[in-house]
Amino acid sequence: MTRKNINIYWGEYKLRNRITELLGVQYPIIQGGLHQLGRSQLVTAVAEAGAFGLITASSYDNKVEMQEDIERVRKKTKKPFGVNMSIGIRNNTEQFVDGIIESGISIVFTSGYSPEKYMKQFRDNNVKVIHVVPSIQYAKKAEELGCSGVVAVGKECGGHPGRNAYSTLHLMPEIVKSVRVPVIAAGGFYDGKGLAIAQILGCEAVQYGTRFVMTQEIPLHQNIKQLFLKASRENTLIIKESIGKPNRVYQSIIAEKVLELEKNNAPIEKLLPYIGGEAYKKMLETGDINHGVISVGECIGFINDIPTVDDLIKRIMHEYRYSIEGLNHLLLI
Ligand SMILES: Cc1cc2nc3c(=O)[nH]c(=O)nc-3n(C[C@H](O)[C@H](O)[C@H](O)COP(=O)(O)O)c2cc1C
Repeated sequence: MTRKNINIYWGEYKLRNRITELLGVQYPIIQGGLHQLGRSQLVTAVAEAGAFGLITASSYDNKVEMQEDIERVRKKTKKPFGVNMSIGIRNNTEQFVDGIIESGISIVFTSGYSPEKYMKQFRDNNVKVIHVVPSIQYAKKAEELGCSGVVAVGKECGGHPGRNAYSTLHLMPEIVKSVRVPVIAAGGFYDGKGLAIAQILGCEAVQYGTRFVMTQEIPLHQNIKQLFLKASRENTLIIKESIGKPNRVYQSIIAEKVLELEKNNAPIEKLLPYIGGEAYKKMLETGDINHGVISVGECIGFINDIPTVDDLIKRIMHEYRYSIEGLNHLLLI
């Protein structure tokens, strides 16, 4: 196998495939939607480093706030970025769809419920949609709806694995086999070796979530970052299964309490003071982990530093390059 065959331009570290072409980026690295954290500061750094950042719509109270933050990114970088929009967590989704279109955003990553309702509006305005899916069934449905790609998210992920979720390792090749659109892998990735594995299994990019939580640019309180540095793989748990929205979060006292309430069939009203948006915001402001719950993936146990986004992305691409070269050498012996 020659370097030309796998289309990697080592000198410029540019990697070309359907996802990098679609997103217009140098590297097949995506910063996943990060509720309250995927804002201009992080997205600008990700874009400048050659990867694809997502302004996370759920972080803003209304579309104007989101649009102002989109403009902040545009003032600082000419490089592309997109918007992540979770469907089904709020009742003013239409306003954000309008806001995305008015801002001239051309790539949207949707997650949660089906984007079906908004597909025509996006298509009519030349917005490409990539949908996050936890299973083959949802991947096929997203393709039928006209999505330009899917993110296959496995159960190790921070945030929302699907119900009866698969491990990322098993999910990747299954979804690649079942759709023709490009597949982005997510859930459990924290380095460049993972990116190489995802590509070997047919995926064309990796969406990292927890890894970006541990960067200098992310607007997360230092106390929480320091706490996460000491976390192990066992320090996450899945809550909110009782309300049909499984969510992998950091194992705080509050998360344990929510789980206990769920075991005792507590109604959602009893859970809301702990899992609601206000509690989360207070936690982010104060840096006190015991004010709310925060999504974290199992890979938190393998993350031991808080680099700048630029250093992180360079490191991922170096690790990726050496993994692929290592395999190449194996072949050529
Ligand atoms: C703190 C945090 C917040 C998240 N918020 C969102 C969100 O608002 N929308 C979304 O689609 N995914 C969200 N996710 C999921 C990520 O976009 C990504 O798919 C996931 O973190 C990948 O798994 P990993 O954490 O193992 O990298 C969040 C994840 C974390 C860790």
